[in-house]
Amino acid sequence: MASSMPCRTHVKKRNVKTNIRLILFPMIICVLLVLVQSLIDIELDKSKYKCGCICVNNKTRCDDSEKVCGVQYSVQIQVETCAVPNPPEWPPLLQLPAVSCKTTASCSFTMLFTANNHSFGQSVSKNMFPSALTMNYSDNMASLAPNVLGSESMTEVNNLHEPAFTLELPIYYLQTQCPKKNSGFSFPYQIEGTIEQQEIKCAQGIHSWRNSSSEIDTDLYKGYYRSNSEGRINEIFSVFDFLNSNGDEFNVTVWYNSTYKDNTNLAPTTLLRIPRSVNLISNAYLQFLRGPGTKMIFEFVKEMPKPETPFRIEIASLLGSLFFTWVVLQLFPVVLTSLVYEKQHKLRIMMKMHGLGDGPYWTISYGYFLALSMIYMSCFVIFGSILGFKFFTLNDYSIQFVFYFIYINLQISLAFLLASFFSNVKTATVTAYIGVFGTGLLAGFLFQFLVQDPSFSRGWIICMELYPGFALYRGLYEFSQSASGGNDWGTDGMQWKDLSAGVNGMKEVLIIMFAEWIVVLFVAYYIDQVLSTGSGKSPLFFLKGFQKKSLPSSKKLSIQRQGSKVFAQMEKPDVIQEREKVEQLLHEPTINHAIVCDNLKKFYPGRDGNPGKFAVRELFLAVPLGECFGMLGPNGAGKSSFISMMIGLTKPTSGAAYIQGLDIRNHMDGIYTSMGVCPQHDLLWESLTGREHLLFYGRLKNLTGSILTEAVEESLKNLNLFRGGIADKQAGKYSGGMKRRLSVAISLIGDPKVVYMDEPSTGLDPASRRCLWNVIKLAKRDRAIVLTTHSMEEAEALCDRLGIFVNGGLQCVGNPKELKARYGGTYVFTMTTYSDHEKDVENMVQQLTPNANKIYRLFGTQKFELPKDDVKIANVFEAVEVAKRNFTVFAWGLADTTLEDVFIKVVREAQAFDTFS
Ligand SMILES: *[C@@H]1O[C@H](CO)[C@@H](O)[C@H](O)[C@H]1NC(C)=O
Ligand SMILES: *[C@@H]1O[C@H](CO)[C@@H](O)[C@H](O)[C@H]1NC(C)=O
Ligand SMILES: *[C@@H]1O[C@H](CO)[C@@H](O)[C@H](O)[C@H]1NC(C)=O
Ligand SMILES: *[C@@H]1O[C@H](CO)[C@@H](O)[C@H](O)[C@H]1NC(C)=O
Ligand SMILES: *[C@@H]1O[C@H](CO)[C@@H](O)[C@H](O)[C@H]1NC(C)=O
Repeated sequence: MASSMPCRTHVKKRNVKTNIRLILFPMIICVLLVLVQSLIDIELDKSKYKCGCICVNNKTRCDDSEKVCGVQYSVQIQVETCAVPNPPEWPPLLQLPAVSCKTTASCSFTMLFTANNHSFGQSVSKNMFPSALTMNYSDNMASLAPNVLGSESMTEVNNLHEPAFTLELPIYYLQTQCPKKNSGFSFPYQIEGTIEQQEIKCAQGIHSWRNSSSEIDTDLYKGYYRSNSEGRINEIFSVFDFLNSNGDEFNVTVWYNSTYKDNTNLAPTTLLRIPRSVNLISNAYLQFLRGPGTKMIFEFVKEMPKPETPFRIEIASLLGSLFFTWVVLQLFPVVLTSLVYEKQHKLRIMMKMHGLGDGPYWTISYGYFLALSMIYMSCFVIFGSILGFKFFTLNDYSIQFVFYFIYINLQISLAFLLASFFSNVKTATVTAYIGVFGTGLLAGFLFQFLVQDPSFSRGWIICMELYPGFALYRGLYEFSQSASGGNDWGTDGMQWKDLSAGVNGMKEVLIIMFAEWIVVLFVAYYIDQVLSTGSGKSPLFFLKGFQKKSLPSSKKLSIQRQGSKVFAQMEKPDVIQEREKVEQLLHEPTINHAIVCDNLKKFYPGRDGNPGKFAVRELFLAVPLGECFGMLGPNGAGKSSFISMMIGLTKPTSGAAYIQGLDIRNHMDGIYTSMGVCPQHDLLWESLTGREHLLFYGRLKNLTGSILTEAVEESLKNLNLFRGGIADKQAGKYSGGMKRRLSVAISLIGDPKVVYMDEPSTGLDPASRRCLWNVIKLAKRDRAIVLTTHSMEEAEALCDRLGIFVNGGLQCVGNPKELKARYGGTYVFTMTTYSDHEKDVENMVQQLTPNANKIYRLFGTQKFELPKDDVKIANVFEAVEVAKRNFTVFAWGLADTTLEDVFIKVVREAQAFDTFS
């Protein structure tokens, strides 16, 4: 496996350009965001959004001297952007509830109080509200201060602007008793040069005693407003509990309604009007101690001065989550496509044939994609940081690392899982990209909306996060929230302590993704083992080990022996001889025999009611080094099953085979290093050149350094792949013949001692085929080759011995000449005449020999087998001459038996026997 690691990188070398393009993607997105940001900045820098001074008194044009900057209630934008060096002063207000005054002409607000000492509580609370209005219009603000003002309006984030003063709602002053004619008064105030009027009305302030704080609890629980006995509505605005206070000690609890705090996720927290309540009670206590002359005046509230702050929209935090989700998801189609490609082109099987097992394949592929993803993500974070996105720079890098690391692992596992269900690269690519964009849009416009909605169940959010795309989006969203400060815990970015405090959804996201990664990885491996072609494992493959042990081996043996007796009767002498040779070799092993198959069987159990089938039965075969063994047989005879077993793609049902003395059942790893395979269909990477293929497979065969280069050059030269730069062209551009030759070259690289070639010359032109034959002839000198072919010419030219394989068993074994002699022994006589004369031809042949056997007849063309012992060639010529005089003979011929005849005969006999039995 150590040697396979570089192979993977090699195979992927071609993809360097693609990978660089891939890594550029996040950079492009980042640059795009920067561009959009600068465009927006340019737009926002226009005077419309800048701190511009406005003309007062609704003039459209005015001199600079008339202009006013800063807090203008009509132009909120000025407040946000302009410097406010001298913020306005506002009277401190109480927060009042807002129902009674809308329904009744005169309204009242109730304050509840309790104390351990009733008389103390009464004395203090009667100092709360003044009995008359004290106004001095020459100094507005100061004269308002002794009065108790309150408003029902909501507050804002800052005190630059008191909303109570610009809304149409009245402000109330609380008194123990309102005048009969409660018309209120108009209060003039100035805001940055403009004089405005505010209506201030009287409302009754009631202090209501409760025996204990638990009574207050009950009261508030029942509702903060209700009608009293006189039909008037009392609204509770504040509660004071004096506890154990007395003349020496002041200890009070102030209750207020915190619902006024606007705590939705969308808006930052607003201010609360509590200071005035505290001042009210303190003032009342002071008056209780010192008499009514003593006053603690709370004159005004005023915001801190503020510098000019340009109006900014941070695009990265607005759109960042969506774009960055796309960036990260982008890796998914890449991994999926690459895996499906290897599957579609059966490259995994090819690699398996050359010894790259499932375990190492997974490790290497996983490692490769992990490395690729890590580089991609690092580039992404680095570009982002360089370009100065707060998204990256503010959040703790170690959290970012953990988040991305877990996510890319989950993503790769997911791609492995889904790759099992795709067999076509195009389908996989299209599906994956639709998934990527769909996920991004759904997450950006639906999921985020739900996350921000505080009324939406958190449980459902967690359920949605089980979908990895949403989990990713949530994580990125939390990063962007932490970086942009759209939350309660400041803008110092995300830190580990935020996670443990659970202030954001990051902790759940990390836990969900980590758990999913482990589960998905396991399921993906399991499904791959069950579904992937070649491994052919049953869904319960991991239980196999137990099942095997439970079957007593002695019983199994007896079944085998019985079976062999039945078949022995129909075996041919040469097959029996081969079997004896194998038995002898097993007793006295020699290294000379590279392949020894001992009673090899492959049984496919029946499915869906079909009976089971022996694909290979009772196979005994010994192939020495230096021999090319040809395997002939009709389609479906079991040749491919045999080869699959020999190259370790499937396990034999019973029996054994030894390659160079190593058992295929448990030493496949050792065998792979000395084995080569040329599969029936060319399994090549379209993007790799011929030379790179040879280098890759050479490395799998443990070749390195100069030996590897030499071996590659040699085999390129041998297979005529050297000229015209073919070797350095991508295999996808090869012609069929070139691919075939490359496949043969691959099977021979690394000097394997055993080579399987499955129809190596199909699709080759005669010249290339000749060249290929020469290579195989040269190659077989010091190795054993098993070759399947449908070309009798090829079998005769290359094979030292032939075996004809029918219905899973060898019907005969021998060299071509022997076979022809044994199964031939006849001439084939062909004659073509008019159909009317067929009978005459038949008679003529009968005269030549009564043992003639008609094997073919079609529209006047007839073929007969004439036993060699019965006829002399001269007699045949004579008979033809006579016939030509009697009727028209279009053509005739006499041929010795060919291998093809032998093949057809053997197959026919075997199949006849099979149907008969
Ligand atoms: C209750 O408060 C009054 C003063 O308002 C004081 O005179 C009296 O002693 C207090 N009673 C107790 C039991 O502390
Ligand atoms: C009103 O305020 C002005 C200025 O502070 C002061 O001179 C005047 O005496 C005040 N009038 C009353 C009635 O308190
Ligand atoms: C408070 O307690 C007094 C006696 O201690 C009782 O008469 C009065 O009804 C109680 N008030 C309320 C509202 O329960
Ligand atoms: C607190 O204020 C909110 C908003 O005005 C109101 O709906 C709620 O009833 C108030 N609760 C109490 C106990 O006053
Ligand atoms: C104020 O009252 C609370 C509640 O009764 C008590 O826990 C606290 O010790 C008191 N503080 C002082 C200074 O008496």
